[in-house]
Amino acid sequence: SPAAKNNQPPEAKGGLPLLGQMLNFARNPYQFAKKLADDHGEFVSFKLMGQRIFLLTGEEASTLFYRGTDEQLDQSAAYKLMTPIFGEGLIFDAPNDKKNQQLKMLMPSLRMDAMRNHSGKIVQEVEDAIADWGDSGEIDLVDFMKRLTINTASHCLLGREFRYELSEEFAEIYHDLEKGVSPLAYHFPNLPIPRFRQRDRARQRLQDLVGKIVKRRESQSEKPTDMFQSLIDMRYEDGTPLDDNEITGMLVGAIFAGHHTSSGTAAWVLLELLKHPGILRNVRGELDELLGSRGEVSFQSMREVPQLENVLKEVLRLHPPLIILMRKVAQSMRFKDYQIEEGDMLWAVPPVTHRMSSLFDNPEVFDPDRFAGENPEDKRLMAYQPFGGGKHKCSGNAFAMFQIKAIFAVLLRRYDFDLVESPQSYVDDYKEMIVQPLSPCRVRYRRRAESSFASEFGKSAPAAAEGCPFHQQTESASLKVVLDSHLCQGHAMCIGEAPEYFSLDEEGQMHLIKTDVIAADRERLEKAVRFCPNQALRLEASTLGGSSKAAASK
Ligand code: HEM
Repeated sequence: SPAAKNNQPPEAKGGLPLLGQMLNFARNPYQFAKKLADDHGEFVSFKLMGQRIFLLTGEEASTLFYRGTDEQLDQSAAYKLMTPIFGEGLIFDAPNDKKNQQLKMLMPSLRMDAMRNHSGKIVQEVEDAIADWGDSGEIDLVDFMKRLTINTASHCLLGREFRYELSEEFAEIYHDLEKGVSPLAYHFPNLPIPRFRQRDRARQRLQDLVGKIVKRRESQSEKPTDMFQSLIDMRYEDGTPLDDNEITGMLVGAIFAGHHTSSGTAAWVLLELLKHPGILRNVRGELDELLGSRGEVSFQSMREVPQLENVLKEVLRLHPPLIILMRKVAQSMRFKDYQIEEGDMLWAVPPVTHRMSSLFDNPEVFDPDRFAGENPEDKRLMAYQPFGGGKHKCSGNAFAMFQIKAIFAVLLRRYDFDLVESPQSYVDDYKEMIVQPLSPCRVRYRRRAESSFASEFGKSAPAAAEGCPFHQQTESASLKVVLDSHLCQGHAMCIGEAPEYFSLDEEGQMHLIKTDVIAADRERLEKAVRFCPNQALRLEASTLGGSSKAAASK
């Protein structure tokens, strides 16, 4: 094309001088991005307030975004507004090396072994949230999920002092911190306006409380099992511990990353189930069969609910709460024939990529079965991206997935639900920075009759996901396990299944102890592959030359 010859990237013209496309963007950021991609394709530039931005959609352009190094693509520019909330020198306000050490320090509390600890607390929070529901009533679903997920986060991450002793004070602090997240803070984070002053006071108050709890915990012989404690015990590579500012900032960072993302997704799961009664029946059937009316919701049991899990994946495809991920270009780079300059911004837009018919069959249709069968549509990692991708993929994804499955394993066995308004009136609110169902979002509940459970409740878990390619291999085919280190964030789900094959070093990096799979271990290794939240593991037939193709990166 003529554009390719002179290396001028495709550009969407129009918009106002100075403001550029600001008005179109502000009206509906998703529709804006979708139209640009529909009109111009996977790679197009436009201007917003004088800034050149590249919109990247589809697999190839997304690969450029997710596979870029921290030196090439700077995350911090996009998250500057969070600095007063997380704190100075924290995460996106730290140099790359320090930022990555800090991000890694969150991992131990989001890994498999920690999840087993969190799971009981999460289930207890769900039970407590509905304890006073009575036989029937009406709720605002978005508000309900926000309250529930801030309680689980404060319980599992901050710990019982904040969840119980300081719960009212924490609610006020959190409210003031949240009010500090405004588009204004992108450009003028320290404007002397009341809401920013309240934000700063709340941040300081939180740090004071954190400091007191650190001191109190020093004298306790039995230490709690929350993220707070894990951060107290953590050290930088040079042996330095975290100070109170850093512990506070990292806890706040984890809570902000996980709160509205989880609450909006959980709300959408119920809305989509109520819009699709046939799918709701299947999910209920699966839960009833696995747990009956009284079976325990545990980390282990929630691994065996493929139908619910596929509903959740499909909700995240059509309603990813983070609709634009941003990086600033720190070193000029190329995409195909095009030059991208230092200072440009790159945007990945998961909801637009998720609706490309070249990547997803009938993309507008809500169809959880697209993730079952022989070619599950979430296996192309640069296409299915609700948790982002590459090195900075969401490290809380196992926490989020378990939490939402646990919420519905409790709710759907206790209550029946109905939409209050017409189904098509429940839509995404794209004006929110973290996209949620539009408020008000009313649903009705009614206690479920005990007699509606099949009599033989609590049967064993359903068979492993059907269509698993390894089940079709002949017994005699020898298999190799392959690890893609770039995708692995060290969640350690695999160690839980097959500890003799995997080890985690002190840096949190996973290693293979051996690669050849013996027949007796196959089932456990298939689980290790299936439960890896980052799809960093594969089983491959070992070929004669023993060559294993480069690990799946696409
Ligand atoms: C990063 C989505 C829940 C912690 C991300 C990113 C996405 C995402 C898209 C990548 C951002 C980027 O590349 O700029 C989600 C969704 C969630 C969820 C859809 C729920 C359904 C959680 C939870 C936690 C969490 C529950 C923690 C408890 C993080 C952290 C990062 C992150 C620490 C930064 C990772 C890094 O940069 O290395 N999340 N998230 N998230 N998320 Fe989540």
